[in-house]
Amino acid sequence: MKTIEDRDQKDNFPEILPVIPTVDVVVFPHMIVPLLVLDAKIIKGIQQSVEESKLVLLLAAKQQVNNLNTIGTKDLHDVGTIASIMRVIKIPEGGIKILVQGICKARATEIIASDNNLQATVEPFKNVEEKDVVALASVISDIKIIAENLSGSGGAFSPDFHLILSKMNDPEKIIDFILSHLVLSVEQAQELLEKTSQAEILAKLHGHLMREVEVSQLQERIKSDARESMNKAQKEFYLREQIRVIKKELGEEDDQEIDDLYNKLAQLDAPESVKTEIKRHIQRLSRTAPESMEATVTHNYLDWIFSLPWNIETEDRLDIDYARKILDAEHHGLKKIKERILDFISIRKLKQDGYAPILCFVGPPGTGKTSLGKSIAKSLGRKYARISLGGVKDEAEIRGHRRTYVGAMPGRFIQALKKAGSCNPLIVIDELDKIGADFRGDPSAAMLEVLDPQQNKTFHDNYLGIPFDLSKVMFVATANNLDTISEPLRDRLEIIELSGYILEEKITIAKKHLLERAINDSGLSDYKVDISDAVLKDIITSYTKEAGVRQFERIIRRLCSKAARSIVENDTIIKFDSDNIEKYLGPRKFMSEDALTQDLIGITNGLAWTPYGGEIIKIEAVLMSGKGKLILTGHLGNVMKESAQAALSYARVHAKEFGIDKKMFTNHDLHIHVPAGGVPKDGPSAGITMLLSILSVLTQRPINSKYAMTGELNLCGEVMPIGGVREKILAAQRSKVPHVILPYKNKNDLVDCQDLITSVEVILVKTANEAIDRVLLPAESKNKPSAAKV
Ligand SMILES: Nc1ncnc2c1ncn2[C@@H]1O[C@H](COP(=O)(O)OP(=O)(O)OP(=O)(O)O)[C@@H](O)[C@H]1O
Ligand SMILES: [Mg+2]
Repeated sequence: MKTIEDRDQKDNFPEILPVIPTVDVVVFPHMIVPLLVLDAKIIKGIQQSVEESKLVLLLAAKQQVNNLNTIGTKDLHDVGTIASIMRVIKIPEGGIKILVQGICKARATEIIASDNNLQATVEPFKNVEEKDVVALASVISDIKIIAENLSGSGGAFSPDFHLILSKMNDPEKIIDFILSHLVLSVEQAQELLEKTSQAEILAKLHGHLMREVEVSQLQERIKSDARESMNKAQKEFYLREQIRVIKKELGEEDDQEIDDLYNKLAQLDAPESVKTEIKRHIQRLSRTAPESMEATVTHNYLDWIFSLPWNIETEDRLDIDYARKILDAEHHGLKKIKERILDFISIRKLKQDGYAPILCFVGPPGTGKTSLGKSIAKSLGRKYARISLGGVKDEAEIRGHRRTYVGAMPGRFIQALKKAGSCNPLIVIDELDKIGADFRGDPSAAMLEVLDPQQNKTFHDNYLGIPFDLSKVMFVATANNLDTISEPLRDRLEIIELSGYILEEKITIAKKHLLERAINDSGLSDYKVDISDAVLKDIITSYTKEAGVRQFERIIRRLCSKAARSIVENDTIIKFDSDNIEKYLGPRKFMSEDALTQDLIGITNGLAWTPYGGEIIKIEAVLMSGKGKLILTGHLGNVMKESAQAALSYARVHAKEFGIDKKMFTNHDLHIHVPAGGVPKDGPSAGITMLLSILSVLTQRPINSKYAMTGELNLCGEVMPIGGVREKILAAQRSKVPHVILPYKNKNDLVDCQDLITSVEVILVKTANEAIDRVLLPAESKNKPSAAKV
């Protein structure tokens, strides 16, 4: 039997062969292909062939062949492949399956279609002789390079494809091998089949492989593009989904939170601009990762905004009688302030949006400034909040920190409003004079905006970033000392001065307010604890030295605690009196008064004003032999030093009138000292006091210790007005000095001091001589000791 190769080589084929039309495949020589044949006529041809040469001619159909009887060369390609039938399998449903192997190309010159079979006359298909061997080799090497690219690209071509191809050299085998891997359309395959030169076929195959490379590169690009976009969007989505699922498992769903915020927003009573801003923040929050820093910051911010009383306003209780009752019930005295509050309520009653003053209470500690603010709020039916500015140095305390700060907070005013819970509370700005300034800005400048009715309508807090209307707030400020409040700030305030209480007032305050509070707080309400007026007076004079009542109140509380202990321990109620009081409070602190009790040479009782009330200060002068120098000690300020010089000059000019030897001024040094040396003192009001000490020491005439004085001295010997009259008279009263010399020009200030004048005699003087006449005692008391010997 002939082998396939033999036949191929000898081109020894029958002239007529049965034809099998192939529909979607072109079979090349050497290819082994299974074919399904259903047509009876073709099957018959196959059976006939199997019995004879076992050869058939495979011709690709140009289109679907419906009627085999009329089939001709126009329906089938005329170049095809002679194939040998390797196996025939009958299919139970009808038809047969055959396995064929291509042997060689052949051309059908004529198709013979009869009722029984389909045949063709066959002639050999001649390949041309390859002349250009170099071109052939070059195209083969190109193909091998492409194969390498292809196998690396990870497409349909496996790495084996390149490996096997690289070892092949026979053009025919290379063609077969590539054809078995390429997927070609029938037309493309037929075109290849009809080529007569191997070089042409290889060139065509090279083109197909190039396309494969492009396709695989394109595929790769699409894949990596898709991967990239997956990287960004999908990754985030993927991670978010994971967080969501985890949160769901934990029962903490974010969406719920965002929904809650929107609900809160819907219920919030705030200006439209605020709502828009809140909405913007909620939207941003919904887009941020819930665990991020930014989300925490936004949450805090929204908490603040929601908690502010944007439109929550309380109605003022504009009832004068009620207000008077409240003010009187909580504070004794303070007539001027109470009157001012009642005036304000009256204006409000007539005009709802009338002018609201910013009251500023100035006075010594413990005189009821802060507590009065609270009473005013109560009398007006307003909410109350307090801001202490003591030691505030950072502007951000007033205006708030920017939200970029970690732990940022709104300023004190916004905090106070949140606490108050209404947009028209009464805010007490406490210790306004203790406000500081440093490199972080000047808080008092920020206060200007807060306290200016024109500007505070749109008060801007850095943290909120949205304006808040402060114009409905009623501000009450307190301070101990006006000097440290800046001029523009002072200009916005209506200053009301509180000067301190006299002994009788303190006793009344104790009986009406302090005692009851102390007794209640100590749980003694059910016991008859009694502290008599005499004991209260004793406490005030022997244990306290203050303008206000804070220390006094503390000591009353101490007595109450002693009473409570005695009830618990011994079941007895203590009866306090002047004899046993030292047992409970310790020895009396202020036994003798600070003022002079003896008429001395060179020492005069002066009166000074301090932020903590009036004080007696003794001005001492001594003479020493020297060269006419003036020595000043006791931490004196420039103004005070200058007034000492003025006093000395006055004495020198009028030396003759006072019988002073002129040489005294040139061969003696004069030393003036003002205790306590550690406390800074300044001001011109000690002018006449210094003059008297100087004259006393120069004339060796003693000073009448029953007098205390204050007044600025000019070089003409006139006494100029001074400040703090009430405080100074109070100090004299406290120190039991019966006569007080004041400048005549302060006469009007005495209107407020009528209550004091009963226990202290006030002498108004126009010139220094009037004071000298009263205070400088005659020389016969010369044997009195001088300051130098004290
Ligand atoms: N006229 C008064 N009637 C009743 N109680 C008073 C009166 N004055 C002061 N008090 C009481 O004295 C105490 C101290 O008062 P408050 O704290 O208001 O003083 P302040 O003037 O603000 O002092 P500071 O300047 O030190 O802040 C409070 O308990 C207050 O009730
Ligand atoms: Mg206070």
